[in-house]
Amino acid sequence: MLTICHEVKINYFCGNVLKHMLREENKLLDESRQGEAYALEQPVETPHGRKLYLESYGCAMNFSDSEIIASIMGKVGFETTKDIDTADVIFINTCAIRENAEQKIWARLRDIKKKKITNPGLVVGVMGCMAERLKSSLLEKEKLVDMVVGPDAYRDLPTLLAQVDTGQKAVNVLLSREETYADISPVRLGKNGITAFISIMRGCDNMCSFCVVPFTRGRERSRDIISILQEARELSEAGYKEVTLLGQNVDSYKFKNEHTKEVVNFAALLEQVALVDPNMRIRFSTSHPKDITNQVVETMSRYENICNYIHLPVQSGSSRMLELMNRTYNREWYKERVQAIRSIIPDCGISTDVIAGFCSETDEDHNETLSLLEWAGFDFAYMYKYSERPGTMAAKKYKDDVSEEIKSKRLSEIIEAQKKSSLQSNLKDLNKIHRVLIEGDSKKSDQEFAGRNDQNKTIVFPKGNAQIGDYVDVFVDDCTAATLLGNIVEN
Ligand code: SAH
Ligand code: SF4
Ligand code: F3S
Repeated sequence: MLTICHEVKINYFCGNVLKHMLREENKLLDESRQGEAYALEQPVETPHGRKLYLESYGCAMNFSDSEIIASIMGKVGFETTKDIDTADVIFINTCAIRENAEQKIWARLRDIKKKKITNPGLVVGVMGCMAERLKSSLLEKEKLVDMVVGPDAYRDLPTLLAQVDTGQKAVNVLLSREETYADISPVRLGKNGITAFISIMRGCDNMCSFCVVPFTRGRERSRDIISILQEARELSEAGYKEVTLLGQNVDSYKFKNEHTKEVVNFAALLEQVALVDPNMRIRFSTSHPKDITNQVVETMSRYENICNYIHLPVQSGSSRMLELMNRTYNREWYKERVQAIRSIIPDCGISTDVIAGFCSETDEDHNETLSLLEWAGFDFAYMYKYSERPGTMAAKKYKDDVSEEIKSKRLSEIIEAQKKSSLQSNLKDLNKIHRVLIEGDSKKSDQEFAGRNDQNKTIVFPKGNAQIGDYVDVFVDDCTAATLLGNIVEN
């Protein structure tokens, strides 16, 4: 039973949270890092080096690829800059997942074109998923760019750039069945020296009907475990405290050692990475509900340094929609997976992705999504309106027949439902001590640090005597929709 005092506290707190929630709604749409300029914090001066300005959009895989691009360009004398006006070469690493992602990039390219008036030698290149989707047609439209390079062609960048230097345009959008850039040491860009990505696989074979990724990133291939472990060791030696293993569908990681004939699955890889350094946290993304196994969750529960957090995109709560989406699981399967995760790791953080208004979605289908959100009580969700992508199975086979107005209405209902779950989830975290890895200053104040707990929730607290990279215990006594607030507990 709640005492009156508690009730007052919670009511006051709810009002506060809702206010913050409105302000922070954008965060729920995963736009916070879009367009981030990527450069070394302290650039290494290369004599007579040309300067590269690199801007990244899209998912973590794209940000990770930007580090590969910087590495390849670094070898031919480029240093990265965060100041676009000093750049000799501008690369935009693009995303094609929804139409508005591409529109944003077109607007950015038009903006950048203006810089050619004062700097005629400026080279502008489009990398990544939009490059792969639009190929050389990107060169034609509005004549905004000089280079178009797909995600599997970055080794070719120096040659392509040399071609541009002779006054030609350059394109390489060949996809590969083997390329994993396993031997290229990514240049860790613009980060804090504490958290890093390790790409463990590329591409995707799932062919969800709405999704452009299999077309922009090609066939799924897993990276050699030896090179993954090597990268994890190097990061640990360099003082990193957290690595995130990246792939579109990490649970289907599969690497066959040609000598021993041994096949390593994701659970085995996770275990090996966890053993590299017990003081280094391990996260991973993204899991697919059809592939996540109990073996993976049990491995998570066995190792203290594997974070108790799973991003498990559901997309819809309606089995009919899931079938049309070609997700290859249904509502019951998804619920069973969530239950299995919670029975193995009761306090596991779970987040999801949801699409509103997919082809032929009815009110009934939509209500099933709302009821699933309520049932699951996700800690967090990324929520989107369906955006038809040319060439996908859905674009070919189904009509994008849910009106914009209904998509918007459904999306806001989904956001409302999720807000309640996020609030519930955050309320459960109050008045508890959380172990936090300090990643840097909070966005709002240089008097406060921000870091994440095991379940991937951001926690903000006054700095005290702590340092970036420390693990600290924080007592949480307040929160906003997206952030927990507290104070360090002195041991
Ligand atoms: N590999 C991950 C997701 C990659 S894309 C997975 O399978 O879960 C990230 C998210 O973008 C997807 O989960 C989906 O929710 C959303 N998305 C993908 N294609 C979309 C489209 N055409 N319209 C709207 N949202 C889309
Ligand atoms: Fe796209 Fe589906 Fe592959 Fe995710 S699993 S990248 S949603 S095709
Ligand atoms: Fe976007 Fe490509 Fe990632 S389409 S979401 S950048 S894989």
